[in-house]
Amino acid sequence: MTARLGLFITLEGGEGAGKSTAAQGLKAMLEAEGLPVLLTREPGGTAGAEAIRALLLGEVPLTPLAQTMLHFAARADHVERVIRPALDEGRVVICDRFYDSTMAYQASGLGVPVESITALIHLIGLHPDITFLLDLPEEISRARVASRAAATDRYEAMDSGFFTRVTHGFRGIAAAEPGRFVQIDAAAAPEQVVEQMRAAIRARAGR
Ligand code: TMP
Repeated sequence: MTARLGLFITLEGGEGAGKSTAAQGLKAMLEAEGLPVLLTREPGGTAGAEAIRALLLGEVPLTPLAQTMLHFAARADHVERVIRPALDEGRVVICDRFYDSTMAYQASGLGVPVESITALIHLIGLHPDITFLLDLPEEISRARVASRAAATDRYEAMDSGFFTRVTHGFRGIAAAEPGRFVQIDAAAAPEQVVEQMRAAIRARAGR
């Protein structure tokens, strides 16, 4: 793989973990330090990927493998048009979800074989430098989701067994790659969540 200038940071976690707030806080913190930052999300981040997002989060029936391939179709467009060019320019890219979400939701949650997803990850060929897993005790996650309005998309409408598998899936992926993952206590106040991420980035930069 070719060397790149920028830093690729991804945020992962189950429903209600506060990823979007954390991503915005991290962006503001890095910009305050003078770094050029691009904040983006998956599924989405380009016109094509946002169109695929609407399909993925909508109600059209799709098998788990079809969902997986659509998540990767969106990702391929997003990586080639937005993420790689930004990294090549030396920017810090913060992406709210990336391929670990497919492993957690489609493999652990829906039973798609891990090898199928590994093959698609290989095709994408871009790996995060740091992945923050915003981890919440299951009861807090469940309470946060329950306090929201009715489920608004395909995944929010899943049963609690699905969310338990997703949570355990994320923890297993993080444990298998301790060099890339940093687990963040997502039950902490938003500013403390950003502080945990700042400390981890500093620690890595100092290595
Ligand atoms: P969001 O709520 O964080 O915007 O993400 C949209 C939903 O899509 C969320 O329920 C997680 C799900 N998702 C997958 O199932 N697989 C994936 O690869 C990605 C990126 C998201």
